[in-house]
Amino acid sequence: MSDAPVPSPVPLETGRILVVDDDRAVRHSLQINLRKAGWEVAVATDGEQALQALREEPYDIVLTDVMMPNMTGMELLGRMRARWPETRVVVMTGHGSVPDAVAALKAGADDYIIKPVSKDELLVILTKALREKALRAEVVMLRAELDQRYGFEHLVGVSPAIREVYEQIAAVAESDALVLLTGPTGTGKELLAHAIHRRSHRRQAAYVRVNCGALPEGLLESELFGHEKGAFTGAVRQHPGRFEQAEGGTILLDEIGEIPLSTQVKLLRVLESGEIQRLGGTSTRRVDVRVVAATNRDLRAEVKAGRFRQDLFYRLNVFHIAVPSLAERRDDIPLLAQHFVRQFAERYGRPARRLSSETLRQLVAHPWPGNVRELEHALERAVLLSRGEEIDRVQLPPVERDEAPGEVAPGEGMPLPEALLEAERAMIVEALRAEQGVQARAARRLGISRSNLNYRIGRLGIAVKDVVYE
Ligand SMILES: Nc1ncnc2c1ncn2[C@@H]1O[C@H](COP(=O)(O)OP(=O)(O)OP(=O)(O)O)[C@@H](O)[C@H]1O
Ligand SMILES: [Mg+2]
Repeated sequence: MSDAPVPSPVPLETGRILVVDDDRAVRHSLQINLRKAGWEVAVATDGEQALQALREEPYDIVLTDVMMPNMTGMELLGRMRARWPETRVVVMTGHGSVPDAVAALKAGADDYIIKPVSKDELLVILTKALREKALRAEVVMLRAELDQRYGFEHLVGVSPAIREVYEQIAAVAESDALVLLTGPTGTGKELLAHAIHRRSHRRQAAYVRVNCGALPEGLLESELFGHEKGAFTGAVRQHPGRFEQAEGGTILLDEIGEIPLSTQVKLLRVLESGEIQRLGGTSTRRVDVRVVAATNRDLRAEVKAGRFRQDLFYRLNVFHIAVPSLAERRDDIPLLAQHFVRQFAERYGRPARRLSSETLRQLVAHPWPGNVRELEHALERAVLLSRGEEIDRVQLPPVERDEAPGEVAPGEGMPLPEALLEAERAMIVEALRAEQGVQARAARRLGISRSNLNYRIGRLGIAVKDVVYE
């Protein structure tokens, strides 16, 4: 290696490098050249000295010879990997010892260089190793930050309202406490339930979701608690229930507001005793299962109406997390929208990358009675229909007037003028649809003049074609 100054072939990262070689001349020349390149350099004459140096101070890269007395470069690499996984290792192998280089890469070295070392090549290799290290650190940090502060992996949202939810989840996840998640449809309750499981000490064990609203009474009980052979007509063999399947893990009782009263009694007994009895069985068995329950119904109102047992409600309501509607966290709409564009563009191989600012503005202003799910669907369609990189049109779903029980009415949580406009929009959209877009007839249906309807359509920015022919 010559000491002649050569222009550096690549922009240099800053870094601390430990050179390990038993040959004094090689150490010396590497030290001088690497220092000239702007790096901090220390030297060690063998593996033991190198390990000692690493214990004393952190290094970005260890540049080590392979053939050394006492400890080979490969042994050094092996001993470093567990304790200093962040430190990059570049090995120097003798001329013609390609097998050594390959073995080093297999053993976890980041790169190799053949002796005699060319200065240019060395600078390129070390710069690359430093960059990779920096990148890796950045990714780890971003992941950790997203995970801890906002995201729990797939969860998007930074608004104060959703952060509070994340904080509550972080606080309760590690315990075995029963958690009740409530909130309007499509707000992410199922996703949050899964996040609770993933952040608990049960994360390696099963996560079982039961949709309590999807099964008729008899079937629901056998689904939850299992049955013995012959418990009822058709029970040809014994069947462990979902509680048993979730042993050691977490069970999500989704749509718990839909459970029939008779099953509620049995569920309460299970929650209190921690034991289940299969249908048609005579013995009980203990289950170690963390329970999370979710519903978009207002359980207090259900109790008042006599559809939900008060004792079960109290049992469930120990740690209650109320998930906000999307309208209560409009700050998150741009972030969620971007997230869905990226996700669907990737899934469908579309070029879409971003939303036009006008489209974003519309999305933020929309009431979203179906919350995140509705936003997700709107963007899925927009991505599929998009042609270029920018999405400048999203068909906004019309606001339904007849809400299913327990769902938020459009406009809930909105100032009155805005809510009135939304109600107006819903009525107009409905009339337009009923009359296949013929405005004169829609106006008659609404009891207003044609020009009045026209004025309102303009004011609300309703795209007649879009709402009628979706
Ligand atoms: N914060 C979020 N980040 C990313 N995606 C989300 C988020 N919240 C919800 N979603 C997505 O929105 C959709 C609806 O979420 P989810 O099924 O969890 O809603 P829900 O509250 O259980 O609704 P329902 O009461 O109707 O069952 C899902 O596809 C989910 O992935
Ligand atoms: Mg759900």
